[in-house]
Amino acid sequence: MTCRTDPVAHPPPRPVQPLPEPLAWVSEALDHLTADGLRRPHRIRSGRQGGTVELDGRSLINFGSNDYLGYAGDVRLTKAASKAACSEGFGAGASPLVSGHSQAHERLEHAINQLLDVPASVAFPSGFAANSATIAALVGPGDLIASDERNHASIIDGCRLSRADVVIYPHRDAAALEAHLAAARGRRRRLIVTDTLFSMDGTIAPLVDLCEVARRHGAMLMADEAHATGVFGKRGSGLVELTGCEHGVHIRTGTLSKAIGAAGGFVAGHPDLIEWLRHAARGWIFSTAHPPAVAAAATRAIELIAAEPHRRQELLGRAAVLRDRLLTAGIDISAAAAQIVPIVAGTAEAAVGLSAHLATRGLFVPAIRPPSVPQGRSLVRASLSWLHSDTDLDHLADAIITCRR
Ligand SMILES: Cc1ncc(COP(=O)(O)O)c(C=O)c1O
Repeated sequence: MTCRTDPVAHPPPRPVQPLPEPLAWVSEALDHLTADGLRRPHRIRSGRQGGTVELDGRSLINFGSNDYLGYAGDVRLTKAASKAACSEGFGAGASPLVSGHSQAHERLEHAINQLLDVPASVAFPSGFAANSATIAALVGPGDLIASDERNHASIIDGCRLSRADVVIYPHRDAAALEAHLAAARGRRRRLIVTDTLFSMDGTIAPLVDLCEVARRHGAMLMADEAHATGVFGKRGSGLVELTGCEHGVHIRTGTLSKAIGAAGGFVAGHPDLIEWLRHAARGWIFSTAHPPAVAAAATRAIELIAAEPHRRQELLGRAAVLRDRLLTAGIDISAAAAQIVPIVAGTAEAAVGLSAHLATRGLFVPAIRPPSVPQGRSLVRASLSWLHSDTDLDHLADAIITCRR
């Protein structure tokens, strides 16, 4: 299947008036971002992404995508989506609760159940909605959430939305977490929430310890597998499977947009938990289901994850080689332990400078700045894909090492 999209025809610029007075603060806020080196570029991608990507008309080796297994541009997903769009139409038209839950969504939930080996799951329009809506459905005012300091924004927003009290424990520090829970004995409910593979620095949560703390304190444990699904575990379901924590982690969330190469999110667990979310998770109830074609593409990718385990094995093998090479050269890659490899740069300017230098060497490795990371911990983040060759990774390592000398 070969398809071409015409390049965007840019219409002549429209005249722009100054912002109306009540909104004048927006221009000032943008000026502050510019002054602090925090203004984000707006890039346009052309064509299908893969190991390389064309951004603003320039072809670069792509280390800026979460397409870990190379399925986002895979024609097998396109075919599955086209078939579903032909039979079910494109838009879902309504919330899953009303009439938006199609045969394709039902098949997707069965596929998720099989991948994770769980009795039930529910598909959400995005991973962000899955996290934020689930937290707000599980706890409320007077309850306590203990959240890792580097958790994803969707978890942070879910915590705020819930109106529960929130304690932030130091990154991956199970002992500090335990102390917080010990001090919270009288609470109605306690929820521990963590990413399993942290998106910014590629570190891994101490799941076995977290399960033990949760068990000792009768707390619920929720784990977001957004970056681990498809990559870790014998079946490829994630770090919960790899660490044997299936029984200790009560609520497993994830996204269909990264290794699965499609879009949407999910929550998996006990059938009663899933049934509760269908009655209480506002991001599922009050949002249109994602298109059936997207659900069909995600289902196809889950089948491929089962059929092509070599992709995740090779990806993790190459990531380990890259990390070793950078560490040996004295590069600070934090405590990265997976296919997300950060190069800690320090200031926002230093991260932008390193990213720009790598672009001159034909590499797209985006700069990550506050608020995505704490002040002084800006970095460039290389997200590896199965589509990268050993030569691509050697080229990346050479460019980083040369630049940092
Ligand atoms: C750790 C983590 N959780 C959740 C999400 C949200 O997933 P989605 O992109 O499907 O909304 C992301 C996406 O960036 C993420 O990195």
